[in-house]
Amino acid sequence: MIILDWGEYNKNMNIAEKFIRDENLTKEEFVELLQLAEADDDIRSRLTEEAVRLRRKYYGIDVYTRGLIEFTNYCRNDCYYCGIRKSNQNVKRYRLTKEEILACCESGYELGFRTFVLQGGEDLYFTDERMAGIVRSIRAGYPDCAITLSIGERSYESYRRLREAGADRYLLRHETANEELYCSLHPREMEFARRRQCLYYLKELGYQVGAGFMVGAPGQSQQDLAEDLVFLKELNPHMVGIGPFIPHHDTRYASEPAGSIERTVLLLSIVRILLPKVLLPATTALGTLDTSGREKGLAAGANVVMPNLSPVKIRRQYELYDNKICTEEEAAECRADLAVRVEKTGYRLVDGRGDAAL
Ligand code: 5AD
Repeated sequence: MIILDWGEYNKNMNIAEKFIRDENLTKEEFVELLQLAEADDDIRSRLTEEAVRLRRKYYGIDVYTRGLIEFTNYCRNDCYYCGIRKSNQNVKRYRLTKEEILACCESGYELGFRTFVLQGGEDLYFTDERMAGIVRSIRAGYPDCAITLSIGERSYESYRRLREAGADRYLLRHETANEELYCSLHPREMEFARRRQCLYYLKELGYQVGAGFMVGAPGQSQQDLAEDLVFLKELNPHMVGIGPFIPHHDTRYASEPAGSIERTVLLLSIVRILLPKVLLPATTALGTLDTSGREKGLAAGANVVMPNLSPVKIRRQYELYDNKICTEEEAAECRADLAVRVEKTGYRLVDGRGDAAL
């Protein structure tokens, strides 16, 4: 009996060890890995240990920061899980002007931020011309900073113009690599294939690209997560944003359970091992669901935090999910609070662009 258990133990460890040895796993093997890791503390610890080892190897104890500027909450899309989806009549919509955006950059720069992330809903007001104008102004004013855009699906030509205007990076979560799940979370106008196409366009244009997904999205299975992992390996992005799903009261998923912190943290470790040099944020959603969520993320292999630089007066209106944290504090307070939190985990918040390790 004991011998059998030992054999079982070794077999279980084998799939984890195979993964750690940098062997590509199939979708079925990823399912097995997820199942075993969730059932077995030893396997989970082994994965965390390896994730932390790799994170330290490539990034030491540095944690990179990005200043997030949520510049519009208008959105033409109607993602069923998202609080700012177009059919939510209860959101007060806002747009920042170019001057307001530049003011966010200015205060962020003084605080040490060298990456600005312009994130917004898919707002048609921000045509290529307007968006390129904003990017050009930031580029001219802050030549030593990285400019990251996170403004959804656009045409190849649009991505090209924005790149030419000076954008360096682009975040576009793939949301899920399973077409059926994608279709259940989004209205028909949103095409699964187009989203992936956008990611490949962005790569082709030389952007540093970020993909990602929610953990615990309504209807998501371990098979779906395994497909996300296979897709991420294939896409090989510079960044991967992973946060738990959190219900928003004005959506059809209002009473669905939130994603699990443990599962999110496990996926962070797995993604760190899958793509060792990847930039991996400890997300705001993780910090919202659990007061020490971001610390748990850092302890699992994450190496980026993205505090908010948006003006406090509009913060609450960029509510993708309920109870989002940091809607009250000024950027300086957010950063100071984060610096303390990061240090308590044995890491160090650093200034600088924070490019991916070569
Ligand atoms: N819970 C967690 N994350 C969400 N997002 C949107 N809505 C939610 C939610 N309810 C994530 C999506 C999107 C990113 C900007 O925020 O993955 O890509």
